[in-house]
Amino acid sequence: MRIFLDTADINQIRQAAKFGVVSGVTTNPSLVSKEGVTDYEATIKEICASISGPVSVEVVVEGVKAMVEQARLISTWAPNVTIKIPATSEGLTVTTELAKDGIKVNFTLCFSLNQALLGALACAAYISPFVGRLDDVGHDGMQVVKDIVDVFKHYQLSTEVIAASIRHPQHCVTATKAGAHIATVPYSVLMQMIRHPLTDIGVDRFLA
Ligand code: E4P
Repeated sequence: MRIFLDTADINQIRQAAKFGVVSGVTTNPSLVSKEGVTDYEATIKEICASISGPVSVEVVVEGVKAMVEQARLISTWAPNVTIKIPATSEGLTVTTELAKDGIKVNFTLCFSLNQALLGALACAAYISPFVGRLDDVGHDGMQVVKDIVDVFKHYQLSTEVIAASIRHPQHCVTATKAGAHIATVPYSVLMQMIRHPLTDIGVDRFLA
């Protein structure tokens, strides 16, 4: 089980890198825009230089040709870039094309086992089921993660499962138990994962 940081905030990434437990970053257009970024390329390059593991960067165009072109361009920005492609029929074609070029794809906005299976068959390196967003509409997001993990194991598919749209530390517990290869978490959740009031009380008592 590995932990990625789900953010485009360079300070959070630098801080988390110091903990030594974060082995990748996932960004998306909303996270990047939240940072008020003016130079997308420079920001992504800075993030890629701050962490040694994969950094997922989403394409922001539509249509197979445009997505493939943009993905190819973004993949030249840094050696550790992974391209996020949405789980659509066009996304499948793009994923297949990019995989042929050896470009790693994170098949994102995945909400079902069928989408995940097709993404794996298109040779995506990662599949990102969005747990929180499924929970939001009354589904069991983590059950989808578990089903995907089980099916990939059964059919020996090498695509790794990233539990995404993580909202709280309990999501990380269930993602770990479900066998997700990776959970991508906001910085606030990472801090919640390490904190425990009994640890704080214990430290205070020992110091006293
Ligand atoms: C993951 O790759 C996504 O960037 C992210 O987890 C989406 O989370 P949200 O549903 O909280 O926006």
